[in-house]
Amino acid sequence: MIDIDVELDRAGLTNPHVREYVASWAEITQPDRIEVVSIADDARLLEESLAADEIQPAGEGLYYSRSHPKDTARSEERTIVATADPADAGAYDNWHPSDEMKPMLVERMRGASRGKTMYVVPYLMAPPGSPLERYAAGVELTDHRTVVLHMIRMARVGVEHVNDLADPTMFVRGVHVTGDLENLGQGTPDDQRYFVTVADERTILHYGSSYGGNALLGKIAHGLRQAAYDGWRSGEFLAEQFMLIGITDRETGRKYHVCGGFPSASGKTNLAMMLPPDSLGDRYHVEFFGDDIAWLRVDPTDGRIYAINPEFGVFGVAKDTNEFTNPTALAAVAPGTGTLFTNVAYNDETHEVWWEGRTPEPPTELGGWRDWKGRLISERGDGGRDEPWAHPNSRFTVTLAKVPNIADEYEDPKGVPIDAIIFGGRTRDREPLVRAITDIAEGVYDGLTLGAEATFAAEGVEGQLRYDPMSMRPFMSYAEGAYAAHWLDVIGRATDTPIFAHVNWFQRDPEDGHYLWPGYRDNLRPLLWLLQLRNGEVSGTQTPVGIVPKREELDLDGVAISDADLETILTIDIGRWRQEIEHREEHLEGLPGLPDAIWQAHRRVAAALDD
Ligand code: GTP
Ligand code: MN
Ligand code: MN
Repeated sequence: MIDIDVELDRAGLTNPHVREYVASWAEITQPDRIEVVSIADDARLLEESLAADEIQPAGEGLYYSRSHPKDTARSEERTIVATADPADAGAYDNWHPSDEMKPMLVERMRGASRGKTMYVVPYLMAPPGSPLERYAAGVELTDHRTVVLHMIRMARVGVEHVNDLADPTMFVRGVHVTGDLENLGQGTPDDQRYFVTVADERTILHYGSSYGGNALLGKIAHGLRQAAYDGWRSGEFLAEQFMLIGITDRETGRKYHVCGGFPSASGKTNLAMMLPPDSLGDRYHVEFFGDDIAWLRVDPTDGRIYAINPEFGVFGVAKDTNEFTNPTALAAVAPGTGTLFTNVAYNDETHEVWWEGRTPEPPTELGGWRDWKGRLISERGDGGRDEPWAHPNSRFTVTLAKVPNIADEYEDPKGVPIDAIIFGGRTRDREPLVRAITDIAEGVYDGLTLGAEATFAAEGVEGQLRYDPMSMRPFMSYAEGAYAAHWLDVIGRATDTPIFAHVNWFQRDPEDGHYLWPGYRDNLRPLLWLLQLRNGEVSGTQTPVGIVPKREELDLDGVAISDADLETILTIDIGRWRQEIEHREEHLEGLPGLPDAIWQAHRRVAAALDD
């Protein structure tokens, strides 16, 4: 048996409850070594990982890692929220009793770390000093060094975040065991993987993956699932898959903050890193606060909603990132930034990386290039033309501080006051460019009925249309009816309410499939209109589903869009919306405990469409 105390003492990990927890899990997983890590260990861990060939160099201060080919995305099927209360059963899809799940996970994890190191990763999912700090501390135990490198970039990591807790027992207990990735039956009826959040015990047990979305327990499992549950139980806050940005108007000196949910791979990171279009760049500045998670609370002093980004880094989609779509992201992953690339294509000889959409055509010199599975492109038999080089869910991981447009006050513990909450998905028809909603219940109703095409960030669902409440579908940890009620409660407590809006950058031409709106940098334009509407500077046109901009109210200077396409994205297709209302009716009926206010909002919209 290894001497755990020696290592915990060396690392200065003094919280007795954390020590006890580490020891109890070491007894189950039986690692050969144990190591407590902090951000100061990054350089050494990188060296060790390079030496062990777990990662490869990708330029100065850049790194490349390839995951197991069977392990490239979140698995929603295998994700479970467990509690002790049988009343939670049936509240939503993936609930199981905790007394059934815990023994199953312990069984799978027993002895699974033999021959390996158990890394102890103490972390904080909040800027230090935040009013929500008590929900932010956690300790992840993992048997995978690359996961540690990711955690150091994505969360604030170090023993200081768990040693002096106001309540020393109040930390999320996360255990990550990779398992034998070759033999887990991924995607078969005999799938061995389990990703379980035991929400009422604040315990996360993940077995069978080392992919970021499954293995970085601070991010999705704690930052979203557990935090959503904690926010509901305490009544204090909302934890959402939201981006968070600041927009400064240099002419008036005013500063606005906008947050909002788009489902995975639908443009949150792009929006947060936005460079304003050239014609607006002198006047407006967009600042990055967060691109994937926001925690929202009401501040009692001024009655406004404040948001923080609990994360410390960006885990961004690589595909289609280039000088035009996201120059900010390219600068964030430039040499010297410590970026870790996962599952992009890699050149053994030159140490370059490439992904689809990085340049219009792949590199022409095939020598040294390997695809994300590690196959030499030159030996693939298709000359590199048929199959993608990078996995569509390939990612880059880099700390917030390296993002060029990071806001100066991104670590302000108080967070920033929210002016607008937006929802948006990949919807090929029906949803206009933007429609604003001023009523709280109608805004929450709109979020609940966010419909989107599912994407490659999750296994096996690409292209499917489904409802994705506030973009939280994969991260919901309690029943949707209660979730709606909690939203109404928190937002209803604010005395200065944000404006809501639904946006859509993805409407397509039914004939040739082109995107009607050019998107990316131009997405600032509908956001500016929304803020002007909130300020009473424009009035828009009232429709049954919200207020849409009058054409002349949008600043369209230099936008490449035809009159016909513009007309389409600013028009409500009443017939199509009536159909949608029927789908919604059916969907909402399946949600027990949905507040009356949401039903009333639904009926108001339905009635307006019938007028
Ligand atoms: P997660 O990190 O998985 O939660 O997703 P995300 O919402 O951060 O998605 P991201 O910003 O990485 O966007 C994913 C994809 O959407 C990329 O392929 C982008 O190129 C594409 N995209 C983003 N913004 C736009 C846009 O305005 N128009 C179009 N057509 N595509 C966009
Ligand atoms: Mn996400
Ligand atoms: Mn993202």
